Parts: sequence; structure tokens; C-alpha cells
Amino acid sequence: MNIQLLNQNISDTKTDISLEYLTKKALKKNKNKKALKVAGFSATQDSICFLHNKNTLICGVETVDAQSVRSVSAVAMKALKSTNYKSANILVDDMTLIAALVEGFVLGGYSFEQYKTKKSKCSLKEISLIYIKDDYKKAINVFSDAIIVADATCFTRDIVNTTPEDLTPPTFAKLAKRLAKENDLECKILNEKALKKENCHAMLAVGRASRHESQLIHLSYKPKNPKKVINLIGKGLTYDSGGLSLKPATSMVSMKMDKAGACAVLGIIKAASEMKLDVEIHAFIGAVENMIGGNAYKPDDVLVSRSGKTIEVRNTDAEGRLVLADVLDYAQDKVNADYMFDFATLTGACMVAVGQYTTGVMGHSSKLKHTLGKAATNAGELTASLPFNKHLKKQIKSEIADICNISNKPYGGAITAGLFLDAFIKEENKDKWLHFDIAGSAYTESPWDVNVYGGTGAGVRFMSEFLKNI
Ligand code: BES
Ligand code: ZN
Ligand code: ZN
Repeated sequence: MNIQLLNQNISDTKTDISLEYLTKKALKKNKNKKALKVAGFSATQDSICFLHNKNTLICGVETVDAQSVRSVSAVAMKALKSTNYKSANILVDDMTLIAALVEGFVLGGYSFEQYKTKKSKCSLKEISLIYIKDDYKKAINVFSDAIIVADATCFTRDIVNTTPEDLTPPTFAKLAKRLAKENDLECKILNEKALKKENCHAMLAVGRASRHESQLIHLSYKPKNPKKVINLIGKGLTYDSGGLSLKPATSMVSMKMDKAGACAVLGIIKAASEMKLDVEIHAFIGAVENMIGGNAYKPDDVLVSRSGKTIEVRNTDAEGRLVLADVLDYAQDKVNADYMFDFATLTGACMVAVGQYTTGVMGHSSKLKHTLGKAATNAGELTASLPFNKHLKKQIKSEIADICNISNKPYGGAITAGLFLDAFIKEENKDKWLHFDIAGSAYTESPWDVNVYGGTGAGVRFMSEFLKNI
């Protein structure tokens, strides 16, 4: 389906159907209010009503703002996809709504059908946004960036949704190489032999019982004269069975999504390179499969991480932090970045703390957390800051090694996981780093906002927004 931004009168745009956004207040004065009343439409948020004889689709919004418009556009898109209309248009009179409309249509209309033998048919081929203000040129830029970011979000979703048998650490590396070729990125892959040379023993231990070799993937986007250098690090567990601390059957289902942090990082570097942002971006991915077997790593093992710090393993299901410990250390050694962000489906505790819809944000710099929070709000993603403190830090002390991979108390699990990662952040980088726990926000089995079943692409929109504003 194609979306375009046009600078011409709506009456000159011949489409099968027009969309209109209506608040309760505007409904009272609307020319179709009688018909809408008969249909039982009262303009509540996310309600829609087709007036087929008028070739109009009315969409209810609480207020005409980006959040409401984004959300109802997703509902409208899903409804339009099941009709026989081939083209639609909508008049936009506010530049701030352009991105919201694109996100609603593209992300709300997304579906993943790779494993369906019969693909669904969709008649809708084109949506035209009509913008007839003087600043059309600026609007075109806003529009094309929004398309790039929405497409990158779908790219991320596609990888998250791919099965663990199809998307293994080596196929992940292949996919990264393909993206590098298409988007003119540099790409370096470290296989297990190279990882051994790099002393990534924590990461290697997690992947040891897998039949697929672990891979550290490093992609870089290097424009000329960049304003800043950014390191992005992603947890890429292509499957998390829990290892010997095996997950219960019901908790294991959906653990193909444990690579969502890595997928987000790929989506972000894709979007940044396509928007041609003048920031240098390095994406580091730890692609590993956490399985069981005679050679599996064990609770009671002590691992020597790349940094030299020793880690007592008390639970092999707390594997993401072990992989990230080495990848974070590697990234800091290889690139001296201005900012460093990691994305990880790290803890179930984060979902308990902030709910399924929100990304947990952790780090030392209040300023950076605030900036990212604002970027997330603008991009239509939910984030919440989870505070570190010295008492929680004590909970990951070990009696026999430098640090333990799980907390000795059942509370504050998202934060103790964040504090574990903090132990691998060098002193000079403490204020440059933030950790995003996307365990809840990265995947859903029931639709919400612009998200449909499966991967949501969490992180791609808010990080792209942050990068655009640097
Ligand atoms: N990948 C999981 C976290 C997760 C849980 C992501 C649910 C998405 C949905 C992670 O590796 C894990 O298993 N964490 C454990 C940590 C515990 C053993 C300290 C958890 O959250 O239970
Ligand atoms: Zn786990
Ligand atoms: Zn995991």
C-alpha cells in the first residue's frame, strides 16, 4: 500500500473514500450528524463509522492531537483493509498530525503473514494525505521521515516475529550483512572463534548448549562530519528456553521475542541511515540462543566476563545480562561514543513494575532520561523511569564472585538487572548510558494503540526521534 502527501485541493483528489476526524464537540455541528446519530456514533475515541453513501469514514477522537489521531487511524486502517475501497484521502491542516497519521496507517495496518499459506487480500492501494498550507516543503520532509521510521518499525516487527528455527544467531548475522549492503553500512561479525579471542566468556557460556554459533554483530553508519557518535546495544536472544533453569511451558511460549532489543537496534540504524542523519551510529548485537544440554552452562558456574569481572551464575534464565555484560564492554572498547543506549527484553519484573505497554528506562543521568522521555512522548511511545539506589545494588552481591547474575531478594528485579548492567559500564561512560527494558512493550498478543499481534517495534520510534533532534 502506498501513502502520499499531496498539495492539492481535496476536491481535485479522486479517491473512493474520505476520512474525517471528529470530536464530540465537532459532531454537534457536523453536516452528517443525523445519519451519525442513527448509526449510534458519538465520537468517542477510537470509534469509527462508515457513511458509505457519502463515501466517508468518520473517526472519533477525544481531541485533535497526535496521540488521539494516531490511535484512531490504526483502527480506521484495520477497518478499511476489510472493505473494497481502493483509495482513501484525508485533509490534514496541522503539520504535527502528519507523522501520527502515517504511524497509525502503516503500523496499524501491519500484518505478519510469512507463515500463512493463504495471504489476506487487501483492496486498499493508496492513501493520500492532503496538505495545502504554504509550508508544504517542510511537511514533505516530516512525511518522508515518518514513512522511513514507520517502515523501519515494521522491519523490526518482521524479524521479531520470525520463528526461532528461521532466525538463529547465524541467520541474524546474514540478515545484518544484507541490511549493511542495502544501506551502505559497515558490518563486522564475530563468530565463536573470534569471541573466544575477545574473551567474551559470559556471552559464550549462554550460547554453549545451542547448535547455532553465537555471533556478535557490529554495524556502523558513518556519515561525514557527524555531530555525535552513538552506540546502540541490543539483546539478541533468538530463543530463551531459560537454559537449565528451564522456563515453565507457558512462559517459554513467545520467547522468540527475546531478540527484540537487537531487532530494534537494527531498525534504528536502518531508519537513521535512510533519513541520512548526521550522527554516527554503531549497532552492537549479541545474537545467542539459550538452550539446554550436557554442555549447557550451569547455576553455580562462575564466568569470567570480557571486562575481567567474575560472575556467579545462580539462574541460567537471567542470561540476557550475561550477554550484554560482554557486548557492552566490547562496544565501549571499540567506540568512544557520546551516548550509549541498550535495548533488552531483560526482565519479567519490568512488566510487573510498569505494565505491558511501557518501556522501563534506567541510568544515572536525569537529564538524559528526561530528554528520552520527551522524545518518547513525541513519538507516541510510553516510557517510565525506574530509579537506581545503593540498597538494591547490594542485592546482586556475590559471596564467591565479583557479582551475582540474580538478586537475593524478590523485589525490584528490573532495577537489579539494570544495576547488573551498570557494573559493566566504565566510570567515564556512566552519564552517557541508558538501559531500556522492553520486555513488556516489545511484544503483544492483543492489539493496543498502533500495535497488532506480535512484535511492536518498541524503541525504534523513540530512538529515531531522539537521534533526529540531536
Ligand atoms: N527474556 C527474559 C525476560 C522476559 C520475560 C522477557 C517475559 C519478556 C517477557 C529474561 O531472560 C528472563 O528470563 N528473566 C528472568 C530473570 C530472573 C531469572 C531473575 C525473569 O524475568 O524471570
Ligand atoms: Zn531468560
Ligand atoms: Zn531472556
